[in-house]
Amino acid sequence: MKAAICYLSCHHGNTRKLVETMAAEGNVDLIDVRTRQTVCLNEYDCIGLASGIYGFEMHKAVVDFARQYLPAGKPVFLVYTYGGVKGMGTRTLRQIAEEKGCRVLGEFSCKGYNTFGPFKLIGGLSKGHPDTHDLEQARTFYRSLEEDENLL
Ligand SMILES: Cc1cc2nc3c(=O)[nH]c(=O)nc-3n(C[C@H](O)[C@H](O)[C@H](O)COP(=O)(O)O)c2cc1C
Repeated sequence: MKAAICYLSCHHGNTRKLVETMAAEGNVDLIDVRTRQTVCLNEYDCIGLASGIYGFEMHKAVVDFARQYLPAGKPVFLVYTYGGVKGMGTRTLRQIAEEKGCRVLGEFSCKGYNTFGPFKLIGGLSKGHPDTHDLEQARTFYRSLEEDENLL
């Protein structure tokens, strides 16, 4: 299975740790949505979309990226980290996937160190996350995608 994970991880690199762990498991290209030039996602068997949660949603740049570049009918999976309250998390991306006829293979999330606003004053929330257990679960999640027989 050849996958691209298109991500943005701008707070503490929490989400980047997850996608790098997944990438080490297989044939995965990591695409930072901030630094892309042009991108063609047709060649991949599935596409991951990943970011932290900022204001109860995944980052707008990942959402805009998906609107623009996610090919119709391409299977997707969603990955995010959150400081404490994930809110509706993936709602908009799921809507886009539905509009484009993209099957959502699964979703993985875990806590991520958060020093946004007042949380900085108390040393941050979810300190130490993602930790080794989170990363092991991310690995297991990615392996389960690879076992999806429709993608082989
Ligand atoms: C501007 C901003 C807004 C955030 N909003 C939320 C939120 O609504 N809910 C939540 O659980 N965490 C929130 N967080 C915490 C991040 O989701 C968390 O730290 C995440 O792991 C950051 O991922 P990153 O390091 O990959 O950017 C916010 C962080 C920032 C900087």
